[in-house]
Amino acid sequence: MARRANLVLVGFMGAGKSVVGRAAAERLDMAFVDADAMIEADAGQSIPDIFAAEGESGFRSRERRVLAMIAAEEGLVVATGGGAFVQPDVRERLMETGVTIHLDAPFDVLWERVGAQPGRPLLAGEGAKERAESLYCSRLAEYQKAHARVDANRPLPEVVQGVVEVYRERVDNDHH
Ligand code: S3P
Repeated sequence: MARRANLVLVGFMGAGKSVVGRAAAERLDMAFVDADAMIEADAGQSIPDIFAAEGESGFRSRERRVLAMIAAEEGLVVATGGGAFVQPDVRERLMETGVTIHLDAPFDVLWERVGAQPGRPLLAGEGAKERAESLYCSRLAEYQKAHARVDANRPLPEVVQGVVEVYRERVDNDHH
């Protein structure tokens, strides 16, 4: 039997990858995994603590390892962290083994959602908004390499519906 493709949500911080992923998994009767939560469980530390102890490069190698494990599974709905899909080797593996969907929203909308929340080292400190905006701009072209785009600047049920439809359509037609 053919392997069941994963459904992989990518996009910037605040796009709703975890909350949309959880709801889409329920609708599709698939298991949900949150890559950031797996990294934290594996490290026994929060993401800010990993950044503090190992730097961003330490976090990225953990992220690469966890996503390689996830890509080796099947039939999962996966919420990735905002930087995962930007790593070429990670992106390639995720695209080979799943339907990748970019949850897309304008920077200002994303910033409204997450700018003031703690827990994201890349959004901490002085000048965070400017740094985040240039990160967003530099990453957009990478997110756009995903198989499909869903407008995430809408009420949650509509975003979930969009994701479920894209996945069903892609899997039914047996192409990612
Ligand atoms: C990151 C996004 C975060 C988390 C880490 C780094 C990024 O995930 O992986 O703080 O590089 O954009 P979310 O996109 O779930 O916030």
